[in-house]
Amino acid sequence: MNKAEVLKEIIEQRRSIFPKDYTDAEISQEIIDEILHSATLAPNHKRTKPWRFKIFKGEEKAKLASEMQAIYKATQPEQLFLEKKYNDIGFKINKANVIVSIVVNFSGMVPEWEEIAATSMAVQNMYLSCTANNVGCYWSSPKIVDYLKESLTIEENQKCLGLFYMGEV
Ligand SMILES: Cc1cc2nc3c(=O)[nH]c(=O)nc-3n(C[C@H](O)[C@H](O)[C@H](O)COP(=O)(O)O)c2cc1C
Repeated sequence: MNKAEVLKEIIEQRRSIFPKDYTDAEISQEIIDEILHSATLAPNHKRTKPWRFKIFKGEEKAKLASEMQAIYKATQPEQLFLEKKYNDIGFKINKANVIVSIVVNFSGMVPEWEEIAATSMAVQNMYLSCTANNVGCYWSSPKIVDYLKESLTIEENQKCLGLFYMGEV
């Protein structure tokens, strides 16, 4: 296959794959590095490189699950609280091998939408790199991430746009 055919196949094959379909296998550090590196190659206006990614694995990921569950419980009116939803938050995070928080940093040098667009393109690069490496992944954007405090340090000029789940399939 020539380069154009390879690219077309990867773009066509890319799908969101959810934690229930991930195996327990570890994604190798080499592949994680490759996926993150691809993100940093996304186009960005005035070279602001507005994406901020933090990788959660093992113990840190377990803490993220607990914090997300606690936020859900604290922000949900009691009569709307669902035990299933609460458990599902934990299940999804625990089932993923690696989670990357997607944060945009607003530099003030270009309009905010341009930095969100550049960060989204970085995420698309991760999606495509996952596809090429047979890693399942998806972008999750629940409201809960607005309240993350212990797992993530969000500066005044930053916003968390969600979590990128990854797992071997
Ligand atoms: C900005 C963004 C946010 C998303 N947030 C969620 C989400 O919160 N929950 C979810 O199930 N999927 C989410 N997705 C994944 C979409 O549901 C998915 O891309 C769509 O269903 C199309 O499927 P595909 O990715 O396999 O083409 C998000 C995708 C994008 C681009």
